[in-house]
Amino acid sequence: MTLYSKIIGTGSYLPARRVSNDELAAQLAAKGIETSDEWIVSRSGISARHYASTEQMSSDLAVEAAKKALEMAGKLPEDIDLVIVASSTPDFHGSFPSTACIVQRKLGMHNNSAAFDVQAVCSGFVYAVSVADAFIKAGVHKNVLVIGAEVFSRILNFEDRTTCVLFGDGAGAIVMSASSEPGVLSTKMHADGRYADILSIPGSLAGGAIEGSAFLYMDGQAVFKLAVTVLEQVANEVLEEAGMTSSQIDWLIPHQANIRIMKSTAKKLDLPLEKMVVTVDQHGNTSAASVPLALDKAVRDGRVKAGDNVMLEAVGGGFTWGAVLFKM
Ligand SMILES: CC(C)(COP(=O)(O)OP(=O)(O)OC[C@H]1O[C@@H](n2cnc3c(N)ncnc32)[C@H](O)[C@@H]1OP(=O)(O)O)[C@@H](O)C(=O)NCCC(=O)NCCS
Repeated sequence: MTLYSKIIGTGSYLPARRVSNDELAAQLAAKGIETSDEWIVSRSGISARHYASTEQMSSDLAVEAAKKALEMAGKLPEDIDLVIVASSTPDFHGSFPSTACIVQRKLGMHNNSAAFDVQAVCSGFVYAVSVADAFIKAGVHKNVLVIGAEVFSRILNFEDRTTCVLFGDGAGAIVMSASSEPGVLSTKMHADGRYADILSIPGSLAGGAIEGSAFLYMDGQAVFKLAVTVLEQVANEVLEEAGMTSSQIDWLIPHQANIRIMKSTAKKLDLPLEKMVVTVDQHGNTSAASVPLALDKAVRDGRVKAGDNVMLEAVGGGFTWGAVLFKM
């Protein structure tokens, strides 16, 4: 009997504070930095984003999303035998200890489940799902909690208008379980370290302090060009591996970074825009949280239904990219 991994629950969480483009533009104007709702919407499709409170860590957002995913899955925390958290903004520097371990503690899971973080920046959730799928198919784990959680507002340089307007905070989670029915159909992960410098936090820890910068740096145009190329390639790779064509995709859930990149991918796949889930307008780019946040939204509002073929895909720092094709 073929063993599959199946997504049996989704959840998400957005911090309460919602910041519109106008509010952000007014805050930047007070520092002499000029931007506008019109510029941000036309270049990125973003109208608003959420910011965590100073007390909230990635694990806090993750736990709220995880509780909802567990509830939908009908699972208790102690049923989970592996926790994977994808985050570029872990609770502790260097993910030491991992945010996954903190989530495990905060969920009250005292079952000695495995727990670790995955770092692939905005591709982190797609990577984490691929890892969970491989563990489940190998029979190593049965119920895996996969989370993308970010407090990106902590690493934004609010003096740099080219980046600070694009990102937000949030978390999304899924429960993946072993199943005799599909399930995840195909996954693909890629990286090309030659492009490490175009999207990074160019700082290192030395003598207890950051040498360099602790803020996100991005060469927006270089990222844009690479993203549109690799997203099309990886979408075709997962389709080919599953023996499917793009016409069989019911829902495309791409990384929510920029509406122009997302539309370009849909067009290259010959998919009508109605089949693409869009949350970037309301969430901004929440990095590893963006795909599970969008998935949960589409599941809970009834768009993604049991039996639908769904494609997840993402690109991010590293440079990393990947896709997952699954039957809901
Ligand atoms: C960042 C991005 C939105 C910038 O859009 P763009 O069309 O490339 O814009 P440019 O960088 O060429 O800048 C155009 C002008 O707008 C200005 N500008 C930049 N940010 C601005 C802002 N927030 N408000 C107003 N003007 C701004 C620039 O200074 C520049 O002015 P100039 O022509 O006088 O020099 C775009 O490159 C992008 O989306 N890149 C991909 C980002 C992404 O998806 N990252 C995440 C990947 S995981």
